[in-house]
This record gives sequence, structure tokens and C-alpha cells, in this order.
Amino acid sequence: MTAVTLSKITKQFGDVTAVKELDITIKEGEFFTFLGPSGCGKTTTLRMIAGFYYPSAGKVKFNDRDMTTVSPEKRNTGMVFQNYALFPHMTVFENVAFGLKVRKVNKAEVKRRVEDVLEKVRLKPFIDRQVSQLSGGQQQRVALARALVIEPDILLLDEPLSNLDARLRDEMRNEILRLQREYGITTIYVTHDQVEALTMSDRIAVFNVGNCQQIGTPTEIYNQPVNDFVAEFIGETNLFKVKKTGEGLFCEALNLRVHTSRENSMKNESIKMSVRPEAITLSKTKLEGVNVLVGKVDLVQFTGESVHSFIKVNEGHTTLKVTDLNRGPSTYLQEGSDIYVQLPPDQVRIVPVAKE
Ligand SMILES: Nc1ncnc2c1ncn2[C@@H]1O[C@H](COP(=O)(O)OP(=O)(O)OP(=O)(O)O)[C@@H](O)[C@H]1O
Ligand SMILES: [Mg+2]
Repeated sequence: MTAVTLSKITKQFGDVTAVKELDITIKEGEFFTFLGPSGCGKTTTLRMIAGFYYPSAGKVKFNDRDMTTVSPEKRNTGMVFQNYALFPHMTVFENVAFGLKVRKVNKAEVKRRVEDVLEKVRLKPFIDRQVSQLSGGQQQRVALARALVIEPDILLLDEPLSNLDARLRDEMRNEILRLQREYGITTIYVTHDQVEALTMSDRIAVFNVGNCQQIGTPTEIYNQPVNDFVAEFIGETNLFKVKKTGEGLFCEALNLRVHTSRENSMKNESIKMSVRPEAITLSKTKLEGVNVLVGKVDLVQFTGESVHSFIKVNEGHTTLKVTDLNRGPSTYLQEGSDIYVQLPPDQVRIVPVAKE
């Protein structure tokens, strides 16, 4: 089992700093996800772990071994590339066997291992099929089999599900998790899909232009975002500037004196409040207590499993998004009706504005 340590790694492409002084430790056997918007340095970081790029500065270690400038074939990492990078005119067998042949594994052993891994990804019946004659999801599994067959110490997956439809994506998500648990391989998974990250990962690193904003378990990242960037990038949230005043916190957008029972040790830096749509209480009858607003239902959006209600508050100046599970048509709000809104103090999180 292999742990991966990145110490202050930086990657410079000419004037572009793709990754800046990144510090991350990935534990042995962990399913670790890099999550972040396009261009934030996820692929670059993965490539430095695989050895396809060497860092401009900093160190990459596998356990206690310094791997910073070791060539890719000496790292025993299996990588699934964003575009699969398969050989389209070769068969499934030939594609999967490729890495073993390069490693000069004998013929009988190659056959055994390829058949074994194809069984695992449920592609055995396709073993002699040319790759160009497979569906996207099947090709994705070939790429996965090719990475797994070398029995890597570390599995690197770069947005492996991005080309699949929603149902296949769900299926493959479970497949990857099953294989990862079965093999117990340290796995680093790159995605910009937050649902994928939240459902699959032991821990997540949230990236923003070349650096890491927060590392934590899915629940930590979702429930305790360290700043407004993380709060907004993971899930939906209602995010507003707040000010510290003599009487406490004040939110101009809501015209509300804001109460929060959450820890709030921030000094006079630039701060915002974040309330998740599912945490907000709505009522047709008057609500008592703090953080109560009156509003009008502006729009009701039905998504199937849940219902989003957009509520205009502060005399129509500000819109709050509120999400409820679908509890049947009789519970849907009428657009244009009056409504009371409460932001429960234990659900109001005060976060600093992320530094650039
Ligand atoms: N070979 C290269 N030469 C020059 N610039 C590069 C190179 N590779 C990446 N970059 C730049 O480095 C930054 C990070 O790129 P990277 O591919 O790591 O992003 P990413 O997080 O994987 O994005 P995406 O989600 O779109 O795949 C981008 O600004 C990109 O343009
Ligand atoms: Mg990428």
C-alpha cells in the first residue's frame, strides 16, 4: 500500500503557474478526489504524480521514496486519461495486455491477468472485439482494466466518467468504488462534478486556480466550508455579504440582523453568510424567533425528487433559493403568494471571502 505526499509542488508552463506550492498527503488505500473548476490544475497535478510532468519546484513522494523526477514507467501507477487514450484498432485484449507486454510479462501470465481483470470490469464477452466497435461506457471500462491489470500501487483517474450518460455514470461510479475496495488501491480521482466527489470520496481537495482551498471528508467540505469559494462550489448555497456592527452581524441584501449559533471567530476581514437551500424553513403562517423574513414566492421549480422555491425578500431586492423534498402536489407553494422565511441560526455559516 502506498501513501502519496506532495510537498510544495509548483508547475510552471512559461508564464502560467498551473499549480502553486501545493501540499497534500494522500493516505494508503484512500479514495482521494481533486475537485475544482476547469483550468485549476487538477490534470497537471495528476500528471506530476504519474511522472508525465516533473514539478518546477517541490517534491513528490510515494511512502518514503522521493519520486519527484522518476520516469513514469518506474512508478507503478495506473492512469485512466480523460479521453481514455485507447488504441482504437486493437482488440480489447490487446489494449489491456499492452502494459504487461511492455513489462515483458510472459504470454501465459498475460492471458491469465487480462482475462481476470476483464472479468472484474464485466467485459469478458468482448475480449476479441475491436475497441472502436464498443460503446463509450465499454471503452471506459477497457481504460480502467488497462490501468488495473498492471496491479498499480496507485490508480489515477482523470474525469473518467465525463463522457457517459447519467445512468451509465451512476453504474460506473459504483463499479469503480467496488474495484477500488476490492483491490485496496490508493486512488486519486479528478472531477469537476461535485456529486461524484461527494458520493465516492474518502476525502476531497477543493482546488481553485493552482492551489488547494480545503481538504476534508465530503461532510466536512459540505457542512463546514472554509470560505465562500468552497461553500459556493460544493452544492448550492445562498451567499450574502455581512458586516460586523455594534449590535452584531448585519446583512444588507436581506436587511436582516443575522443570528448564528455557529462559531464565529472571524475578525474584521471580509465575510459572508452561507445558508444551504435545504436548511431554510418556509411557512404560510407567521414565524417567531430570530432570522425571520417575509417574502413572496417568485418561482417554483419541480425537479422530480425535490422542489426548488425562489422567494423574493427585502421588498423584492433579493432572492433566496429554498429546496424541499417532493412531498406531493398539495405541498407545492403558489407562485405570487406571501410566505414567511426563517434561517435557522445553527444553519447560518459565516465564512471569509477566499483570497486570490
Ligand atoms: N502543457 C501545457 N502548456 C501550457 N499551459 C498548460 C499546459 N497544461 C496545462 N496548462 C495550463 O495550466 C492550467 C491548469 O491546467 P490543467 O489541465 O491542470 O487544468 P484542469 O484543472 O485539469 O482543468 P479541466 O477541468 O478543464 O481539465 C491551465 O491554465 C492550462 O491552460
Ligand atoms: Mg483536466
